Amino acid sequence: MEETILKFKKKGIEEPRLNAEIILSSILKKPRSYLYLESEYLIPPSRLCLLKKLVRRRSSHIPLSYTIREQDFMGLKFRVTPAVFIPRPETEILVEKVVKILQKEPISRKQNIIIDLGTGCGNIAISIAKQLSDFKIYAVEISKSALEVAFQNARRHRVEKRITFLWGDVFSPLRRMNLRGRVRLVISNPPYIAGPQIKRLSPEVRKEPLIALNGGRDGLKFFKRIIQEAPLFLGQGGLLALEMGYNQAGKVEKLIIAQKEFESPEFIYDYEGIQRVIISRRI
Ligand SMILES: C[S@@+](CC[C@H](N)C(=O)[O-])C[C@H]1O[C@@H](n2cnc3c(N)ncnc32)[C@H](O)[C@@H]1O
Repeated sequence: MEETILKFKKKGIEEPRLNAEIILSSILKKPRSYLYLESEYLIPPSRLCLLKKLVRRRSSHIPLSYTIREQDFMGLKFRVTPAVFIPRPETEILVEKVVKILQKEPISRKQNIIIDLGTGCGNIAISIAKQLSDFKIYAVEISKSALEVAFQNARRHRVEKRITFLWGDVFSPLRRMNLRGRVRLVISNPPYIAGPQIKRLSPEVRKEPLIALNGGRDGLKFFKRIIQEAPLFLGQGGLLALEMGYNQAGKVEKLIIAQKEFESPEFIYDYEGIQRVIISRRI
C-alpha cells in the first residue's frame, strides 16, 4: 500500500492514499472500511497481477473510475468504461430534485413518460427508475458503446424492462413514437463545455469521450436543441430539468424564456454555490 501511495505521489496523482485504498478495496472486493478494520489483509496471488495493472493505469492519469471500472451514483454502483462519461456528484442534485418533485405530484396514466437525453452509462435513467416505479423511461444516446454499458447497468439494477434505450441524436429516435403531450419529464445532463475550452481541461477529464463534453462553440448547442423541441413532447405542467456548467445559468434561462412555452425557471445550486440545475414547467 505505502509503495503505491508513493508511486501516485511521484506521478502527481491527487489524493494518493484515497486512490490507493479504493483500488485495493476493489481488488479485494471489499468496502474501503475493511482496510481499516483488518490490520493485515492478503491479496490473493491471482489478483496481484491485476493490482499492478490498475496501479499502472492510474499512474498514467487514467481516471480512477475507469481504472476500477466503477462509479457510485445515488447510492448505486455503475459500470463505467472509457466509452462513457463518468457520473458526477453534481448530477445527483439534478436527480434528487426531480424525484422529490415527482414524488409529490399525482401520476396520470396519460403523462407517465420520462425522457433522458444523452444517457451515458444510464445513471440518471436508472436511478430515477429505481425511485419512481410508475414511469416508463426512454433513454437516448448517440454513442453505441455507451448504450451497451447503459443496458448492462440497467440489467445490474433490474430495471431493464422499464427503460427503453434508443440510439440516436437527441430527440430524433422519439419523433415517430407518438409521445406528444404524454411526457412528464425531459431530463438531461448534456455536453456543455464550450469547444475552445476543452483543451484547458485536466488531462484526466480529457480522457473522457469528447462527444460527452463538447457543447459546440459556445457550449450551448444542446440546450438550444433540447429547449426548442421539448415542448413537442411534454404534457401540460411537464418538467424540463437540465444540468448546466459554470456561468451558463443566465444564458440557458434566456433560451427558456424566449421559447415562451415554459414558466419562468427555478435554479438549484451545487455544493460550491453555482447555479447547476435549471427546472421549468411546460405551460
Ligand atoms: C455529459 S454526458 C452525460 C452522461 C450521463 N447522462 C450523466 O449525467 O452522467 C453527455 C452524454 O450525451 C451524449 N451525447 C452527445 N451528443 C449526443 C447527441 N447528439 N444525441 C444524444 N446523446 C448525445 C454523450 O455521448 C454523453 O453520453
